[in-house]
Amino acid sequence: MTVDFDIADRDIADLGHRRIEWAGRRMPVLAAIRERFEKEQPLAGIRVGACMHVTSETGNLMLTLRAGGAEVALCASNPLSTQDDVAAALVDEGIPVFAVRGEDAATFYRHIHAVLDTRPDIVFDDGADTTTVLHKERANQPIMGGLEETTTGVLRLRAMAADGVLRYPVIAVNDSDTKHLFDNRHGTGQSSLDGILRAANILFAGRTVVVAGYGDCGWGIAQRAAGLGAHTVVVEIDPIRAVAAAMNGHRVLTAADAAKVGDVFITATGNIHVFRAEHFHDMKDGAILANAGHFDVEIDLAALSGMAVATREIRNNLQEYTLPDGRRLLVVAEGRLVNLGAAEGHPADVMDMSFADQALAAEWLVQNQQQLESQVYVLPTELDREVARLKLVAMGGGLEELTAEQRRYLASWQEGT
Ligand code: NAI
Repeated sequence: MTVDFDIADRDIADLGHRRIEWAGRRMPVLAAIRERFEKEQPLAGIRVGACMHVTSETGNLMLTLRAGGAEVALCASNPLSTQDDVAAALVDEGIPVFAVRGEDAATFYRHIHAVLDTRPDIVFDDGADTTTVLHKERANQPIMGGLEETTTGVLRLRAMAADGVLRYPVIAVNDSDTKHLFDNRHGTGQSSLDGILRAANILFAGRTVVVAGYGDCGWGIAQRAAGLGAHTVVVEIDPIRAVAAAMNGHRVLTAADAAKVGDVFITATGNIHVFRAEHFHDMKDGAILANAGHFDVEIDLAALSGMAVATREIRNNLQEYTLPDGRRLLVVAEGRLVNLGAAEGHPADVMDMSFADQALAAEWLVQNQQQLESQVYVLPTELDREVARLKLVAMGGGLEELTAEQRRYLASWQEGT
């Protein structure tokens, strides 16, 4: 089969096929959807353009969409997260993939345009880059609708909707409970530490780990770091989340105070320059900085580079910056998503639910396209709950059902003590 593509190396497809198979074994909910899609063909005749992390889990999602009748094209949502062998395996499957690990910014955007050149009906986005291109550079290209995977992308979309410029309906898949309560918490929590471990191979026990941002991602990272025996510090701007962190056993400090005590700093805020020059001045020799937020803006790397008298890669994915006073600060994966840049992203077990949500959201979008306006939608609760139910069953759990008496009791106000 000949397909248009731009990938690193077609000859490594075999490893990619095995990786996709391995991930697929731990994605039972998505597998059940794929089986149904094969029979029902809910996406027949639909062209999908996806801009997502090119990983083995995404590979399984692409194959599920295709099983449902869609034609699929894929590019990377981050220059560092592509698994080149998975890209090769998908090309082998006849899916046009435009993604090379480590691609520069020009190539990244050329690849987005290559996917949009396939004239997709639906765009799958992770960080709203495709959506931005479709609004700024391709404003006349017709689109049925979009799906958005991550918090930062949803924020951008809501801003576009509020400004009245969003030109097609988008489903905020991130906002499904079966996505953000599990993927962001457990997926990012575990895999961000995995990335730091692979890059630096440090012992977390006894170290002070500073987590900036106590949203879903920060919650997971701080909890996992504590589980490994670290002293945890949280930096927050939201008083409620800050108190929640304090009551979950973390110390809550300002960034300025945390800078003085931290051994490892991990950002997960979706915000810019959370750690910057004034903090680098106070950090200890050997402090490690990593970012789990969507964009590489959370650590002010330009300022750090400007302060440094020397830089070198001391280990794979670990850049050392030597400051004039001799202190060395280390940055993992160039300040890009640490779990995807230095590890393999979220484990398949949790992406199972996120991508089940994506597949169902695509089906729902196609079924409801006539009624939808150019707004941000969330997946209907019934679908969200069904994904959770299927996951629980796949995990060997059982769900209790209300008795008729309990149902009556919960619906009544007359019964008291
Ligand atoms: P969230 O909105 O639930 O949490 C972000 C938190 O950061 C909020 O509590 C906010 O108050 C806080 N914050 C904002 N500015 C801050 C500052 N200057 N200092 C300290 N705290 C600050 O978002 P969520 O879902 O936790 O996502 C965070 C980021 O991670 C987003 O960019 C999201 O797209 C990304 N993400 C990354 C994943 C990965 O695989 N690495 C997976 C899922 C999300």
